Amino acid sequence: MATQTSSSELAGKVAIVTGAASGIGRATAELFHARGASVIAEDRNPQVEDLARDGIVPLIADVTREDAAREAVALAVDRFGRLDILVNNAGIIMNKLVVDTTLEEWNAILAVNATGAFLHAREAMRAMTPQGSGAIVNVGSYACFQAFPTIAAYAASKGALAQLTRTLALEAIGHGIRVNAVGSGDVVTNILDGVHTDGAAFLAKHGENAPIRRAAQPEELAEVIAFLASDRASYMVGAVVMADGGMSVALP
Ligand SMILES: NC(=O)c1ccc[n+]([C@@H]2O[C@H](COP(=O)([O-])OP(=O)(O)OC[C@H]3O[C@@H](n4cnc5c(N)ncnc54)[C@H](O)[C@@H]3O)[C@@H](O)[C@H]2O)c1
Repeated sequence: MATQTSSSELAGKVAIVTGAASGIGRATAELFHARGASVIAEDRNPQVEDLARDGIVPLIADVTREDAAREAVALAVDRFGRLDILVNNAGIIMNKLVVDTTLEEWNAILAVNATGAFLHAREAMRAMTPQGSGAIVNVGSYACFQAFPTIAAYAASKGALAQLTRTLALEAIGHGIRVNAVGSGDVVTNILDGVHTDGAAFLAKHGENAPIRRAAQPEELAEVIAFLASDRASYMVGAVVMADGGMSVALP
């Protein structure tokens, strides 16, 4: 098989990237576009419209809604004729002890991080199955496997995402569709802005605990996502690939 790592690696592919207004999702949408893909960039934040250009169509939508998943897939097919790649990246976090967590807070985290991915994967599968090809990449976390106090809802959602990845991978591979996930470590993004006064600075500092001694930039995760979405990852099925600077393999 010819190996392509050129700027045209994703040429002709059509992708949906959720959570594309910021951080890892934004970097992924831009990298996919730079490598030749057409992209539906979905986010509930209207700032996603900044990405609009030839080959990137923004969609302001809440991933927890069933109609948003349908609309994203319909938009891909309507504007670009098909759907090859789905990146389930939209995510939120909260730091609270279980005893202090309300039902609404628990449900909100699960709804975005797990249910949103399920809804989008289901609609994507329906479009990809008749083609007999496709790739779905879920953006997981160290919290697919590990935990610390105050992240029960987030860890439960990312554990669910890992198991959705594995189960769907088994259901999808017979249709030529590969499903994988990337388990991210600390990445300098806005995800902690509602939790810390300077969320990005906190993540940059916290990343220094990893063996690599720094947090990642969003572009470094986008590279792993692009690989898993590309034909170069042709033998990867149901994997949760850690891209965490060694955090998950080190003893404390
Ligand atoms: N930054 C990290 O350290 C880190 C670590 C592990 C995993 N992750 C995962 O990476 C993914 C991306 O996070 P990020 O760090 O780039 O954060 P971010 O906050 O910069 O970006 C997340 C995006 O998702 C969007 N979003 C949130 N809820 C949504 C909804 N209901 N509908 C549509 N869009 C929604 C936000 O508006 C935002 O643009 C998440 O799944 C997160 O759990 C991040």
